[in-house]
Amino acid sequence: MSKRVAAVTGGLGGLGTAICLHLARAGHRVVAADLDGQPERLAAFEAAVHGLDVEFAALDVSDFAACGRFVADVQARHGALDVLVNNAGITRDVTLRKMDRVQWQDVVDVNLGSVFNLCRHAVDGMVERGFGRIVNLSSVNGQTGQFGQTNYSAAKAGMHGFTMALAREVARKGVTVNTVSPGYCETALVMRMPEAIRADIVDKVPVGRLGRPEEIARAVAFLVAEDAGFVTGANLPVNGGLFMSF
Ligand SMILES: NC(=O)c1ccc[n+]([C@@H]2O[C@H](COP(=O)([O-])OP(=O)(O)OC[C@H]3O[C@@H](n4cnc5c(N)ncnc54)[C@H](O)[C@@H]3O)[C@@H](O)[C@H]2O)c1
Repeated sequence: MSKRVAAVTGGLGGLGTAICLHLARAGHRVVAADLDGQPERLAAFEAAVHGLDVEFAALDVSDFAACGRFVADVQARHGALDVLVNNAGITRDVTLRKMDRVQWQDVVDVNLGSVFNLCRHAVDGMVERGFGRIVNLSSVNGQTGQFGQTNYSAAKAGMHGFTMALAREVARKGVTVNTVSPGYCETALVMRMPEAIRADIVDKVPVGRLGRPEEIARAVAFLVAEDAGFVTGANLPVNGGLFMSF
């Protein structure tokens, strides 16, 4: 069988890079999609994935038409788009009473709108080929809510609603759709927080530390594997026990 082709949005980011590395090492051909015009981050990414079957594509995931062109281009150049990891995300933290319309809309467009934009274009090909794996990167804060994150918590919770609905629509077609909900991880986003706030967060995590990007990548790799076809519509928490439910 030829290599499965995986697209990872937000591929230049902390979790995105780890996911690209893990999938490439597991035998996928990986296309990392991220915003254009970030030469330093792109150079660091290219150094990290050097020697692996990983390429970069410029994409704004909040642009529906651009997502359509991206999917068509990947399919034309690589023959298929088998695995879609919707990982691109942003925060614009502020309490609701101070939140403006742009802070709301940007977070909803990039985190949640992007999932529609890419799945809408990618799912037909997956159904036609009888194989597909979609993973949406949500967050523990979509499950619990978080102070200052009505926009982010709503978008991240919405992602899993989307996951469950689409999972039902394509379940008979060899296509699975799942969510991974990371807890706090050692990425630039979290490491930028003031030390005291970070220490307070770690204090609340039963495992007693932040997650490593590789630990999120491992969960994604599990869900996109060939033999993961019976796992669909699931929300896999990878949060060190910070939030538990059944
Ligand atoms: N790091 C954590 O602790 C944590 C916890 C829970 C959930 N998450 C989620 O995991 C995902 C990755 O997080 P991260 O920590 O790697 O963040 P990050 O900021 O390092 O990476 C996010 C990437 O998304 C890209 N991006 C932003 N807007 C985009 C757009 N419009 N089009 C294309 N790409 C865009 C950014 O350029 C960046 O490379 C996000 O969805 C985030 O919400 C992260």
